[in-house]
Amino acid sequence: MAIKKTIVILCIIIGPLSLVSSAQTCKNYIFSEKRGFNSCADLPVLQAYLHWNYNSTSETIHVAYRANQTPRGWIAWGINPTGSGMVGTQALVAFQDLNGNMKAYTTQISSYNPEMKPQPLSFPVLELSAEYLNEEMIISAVLGPLSNGTTFNIVWQAGNAVSNDIPQSHPHFGPYVRSAGTLDFLSL
Ligand SMILES: *[C@@H]1O[C@H](CO)[C@@H](O)[C@H](O)[C@H]1NC(C)=O
Ligand SMILES: *[C@@H]1O[C@H](CO)[C@@H](O)[C@H](O)[C@H]1NC(C)=O
Repeated sequence: MAIKKTIVILCIIIGPLSLVSSAQTCKNYIFSEKRGFNSCADLPVLQAYLHWNYNSTSETIHVAYRANQTPRGWIAWGINPTGSGMVGTQALVAFQDLNGNMKAYTTQISSYNPEMKPQPLSFPVLELSAEYLNEEMIISAVLGPLSNGTTFNIVWQAGNAVSNDIPQSHPHFGPYVRSAGTLDFLSL
């Protein structure tokens, strides 16, 4: 009897979980507003996804970066035009501010201990916005014109705490140090 009960409970737990994980791909995601993105990528760590439209005429990219996060945390995504790691990243940052509203701004990550203060990037950024929906933070913006082709080093990050509207240092292990890669905006 005891063994049978255990098996039944295991099936109940495993069933719904496997359904959820198979649904977690960027291709199935529908944005709340009428925003269509033609391309997307499931990023390998931090439960993060990038959606975009690349306009080759204007060399601009409309991006939406979304990632699992608690209301107290922060997310960031950016392009690093000068290197492959954190330093040099032209970043978009989002979190809930002291009033509980989602706030988004741009900042340059110029050291391993960045100030995280709002600052313009090395390329133009328009239509920057952020929202919190279904336990995810989403930042979107139009970036560019971007010179240097369509392949960029991208870097993303998440942290657990924001203090006085300043994102605090992120953890320094596992997924938090593997959150970088290369993406060709024409590849998908
Ligand atoms: C791409 O950019 C060009 C130049 O700004 C614009 O005329 C065109 O409508 C854009 N295409 C799309 C699909 O947004
Ligand atoms: C293009 O490359 C140059 C030299 O590496 C760099 O300084 C510049 O920021 C890059 N621009 C973009 C938009 O990536």
